[in-house]
Amino acid sequence: MFKVNENYGKLPGSYLFSTIAKKVAAYQEANPDRKIIRLGIGDVTQPIAPSIIKAMHAAVDEMGNADTFRGYAPDLGYDFLRNAICDNDYKARGCDIAPDEIFVSDGAKSDSGNIQELFDEGCRIAVCDPVYPVYVDSNVMAGRTGTYDAATGMWSNVIYMPTTAENNFVPDFPKETPDLIYICCPNNPTGTTLTVSELQGWVDYANRVGAVIIYDAAYEAYISEDDVPHSIYQCEGARTCAIEIRSFSKNAGFTGVRLGFTVVPKDLKCGEVSLHAMWARRHGTKFNGAPYIVQRAGEAVYSEQGKAELKEQVAYYMNNASVIKSGLEKAGYTVFGGVNAPYIWLKTPDNMNSWEFFDHLLEKANVVGTPGSGFGPSGEGYFRLTAFGRYENTLEAIERISKL
Ligand SMILES: Cc1ncc(COP(=O)(O)O)c(C=O)c1O
Repeated sequence: MFKVNENYGKLPGSYLFSTIAKKVAAYQEANPDRKIIRLGIGDVTQPIAPSIIKAMHAAVDEMGNADTFRGYAPDLGYDFLRNAICDNDYKARGCDIAPDEIFVSDGAKSDSGNIQELFDEGCRIAVCDPVYPVYVDSNVMAGRTGTYDAATGMWSNVIYMPTTAENNFVPDFPKETPDLIYICCPNNPTGTTLTVSELQGWVDYANRVGAVIIYDAAYEAYISEDDVPHSIYQCEGARTCAIEIRSFSKNAGFTGVRLGFTVVPKDLKCGEVSLHAMWARRHGTKFNGAPYIVQRAGEAVYSEQGKAELKEQVAYYMNNASVIKSGLEKAGYTVFGGVNAPYIWLKTPDNMNSWEFFDHLLEKANVVGTPGSGFGPSGEGYFRLTAFGRYENTLEAIERISKL
């Protein structure tokens, strides 16, 4: 008789967003006349920019012609896209990254979930708390996290680094030494950031203790302040300790199109073993390349017209962020994030816990957000709203919340 991977059975409850979806569906069924505004899940609402659609159409036409048809894409990505990424995201920012250190993928969720495969089962992970759940859950599935304590919401073999208002959302170096450190900046869910010098401190720390930083920069496009790093490779020494994961979902609205990439520098080694070679091997074995049409769409993101259109799109969402932030502040809420990220992280009022506030907002304002405790124990007492909604809905949601 076969046996299953028992680690899956250790995962607690259902995924945060399915719990929310169920609660919202039940409320809507009981109250069919209410207009619910969803500022919960981090999905975009603006359509794909015209120059990108044009590039996709052209690529579709190429696929219909025997002379220009493309079959399997190169496992690691087409050169035209890797070069565009390298020039715009790295060389332009003074980062020493080569095109062949960039691995094109179908998105940051798969890469951030899969990257742990490169590491020994015994490696200890450190995560910020609250955290994007994929980092922890993918390590649970791999059997790296120990046992779950439902009372504390913590895994016995995970090092938690609280990021709360008390430490200005900058994690302290952990007391125990981790092997893998997940850092997401700009951060989901808190919308807060590290400065270049704070991140440099983490790079120095990782090099000192022999850890690898898995740096998720999915929200890089939202950075507006000068001292926030666009890439971890802006830090000295990052080539020997950091993997960077990026997405086209939030800068270009590709949540349904699917495209991302991961940078693994060739200097990142465990003794003589190259993580770059391992990731190339993994990609070659388990991934058959992002679609040609989508990679052409990705290339258009870096065209002059694409950049101008996407700047406007990001500005649209960040205008929503400012509506949420200023509206809530005016209504007396304590609010974080929303300056370099499309997320607003607020303190729940009147000592309500995160789920109590979720129910309160759903029932009294018909607005859906995400309870902070869903992202980790230190998220308790906080609540996340996203700026990815439509402007009119965002405005209405904040008006409703302000009247409570
Ligand atoms: C921190 C972070 N990383 C990765 C992702 C997923 O990105 P993608 O759509 O490229 O899979 C998200 C999506 O919400 C995210 O918040």
